[in-house]
Amino acid sequence: MKVGFVGAGKVGFSLGKFLSDAHVNISGYYSRSLHSAKEAAIFTNSKVFNDLSTLIYESDAVFLTVPDDAIAPVWESMKKLPISEKMICHCSGSLSSRIFSDIEKLGAYGFSIHPLLAVSDRYVSYQNFSNALFTIEGSAEKLDFMRSFLVQAGINLTVINADAKVRYHASAVIASNLVVALIKTAEDELIKCGFTEDNLQKALAPLITLNVSKVLSMGPEKALTGPIERCDLGTVQKHLDILDESSKEIYTSLSKKALEIAKKKHTEYDYSKIEKLLSERE
Ligand SMILES: NC(=O)c1ccc[n+]([C@@H]2O[C@H](COP(=O)([O-])OP(=O)(O)OC[C@H]3O[C@@H](n4cnc5c(N)ncnc54)[C@H](OP(=O)(O)O)[C@@H]3O)[C@@H](O)[C@H]2O)c1
Repeated sequence: MKVGFVGAGKVGFSLGKFLSDAHVNISGYYSRSLHSAKEAAIFTNSKVFNDLSTLIYESDAVFLTVPDDAIAPVWESMKKLPISEKMICHCSGSLSSRIFSDIEKLGAYGFSIHPLLAVSDRYVSYQNFSNALFTIEGSAEKLDFMRSFLVQAGINLTVINADAKVRYHASAVIASNLVVALIKTAEDELIKCGFTEDNLQKALAPLITLNVSKVLSMGPEKALTGPIERCDLGTVQKHLDILDESSKEIYTSLSKKALEIAKKKHTEYDYSKIEKLLSERE
């Protein structure tokens, strides 16, 4: 199957390179700027296209690796072209294949295929694709075909329901982008304690990396430590007294989640006073 890309950005480059390394035939790239398309074509040993119609003509599957807001407009342009029997895919986390309106009437098959990965570099990120999990949903008629094509190319894949995509994407944001925001909150508080930019990383790296590897290997219940888990009311009270409003808000809402975990872990503890304290601080 020949795969073409509309949008020569981070995901277009990376997916194209990954598939090309897996001996998938890449037809090439059409993009907003000819320069990006040329660079991607060189990187993936494929062709550059000056127009959408020739790219579609020369491809069996077309990935719309454009920003989410551009998927619908690009699809509207594609609908006017001969696309019968083509596999039309996008890589958005939050949008489903339903964005390809009227696709069945046009005789084509639509999919959303999303890598659960931060793709930050056009030339390097493809190296992480073999460790990432991708989700797929779309045309029931060709789902098995598309799945086995991607699995054969070395992609780890799971099927997702179209209705779950927004929630699924929100959870990916919590696990990725919001962890960055959480770490920044901890950094800001440490700076108030006299830490410098230089030793912040030294202070936080072992705490964060060991903790993440523990949660991933043992699960949240076994990994959870700290004052909430120990039912240490006095310490939690002191933390809430010292923190500024924005840090306190984060501390309180995540402590409630930690409390849910702690209650399952220690059914013998009475967490009611901590529970009351946290709900008063809302
Ligand atoms: N980056 C991530 O971490 C990540 C992870 C998973 C999924 N995704 C999804 O992957 C898709 C692409 O994201 P990205 O991060 O690769 O974005 P990106 O780096 O900004 O690349 C998008 C590319 O699309 C091109 N483009 C924009 N409008 C276009 C149009 N109307 N017609 C043709 N080409 C157009 C741009 O081309 P020019 O360079 O030619 O101007 C740009 O290079 C999105 O749906 C996103 O949600 C991203």
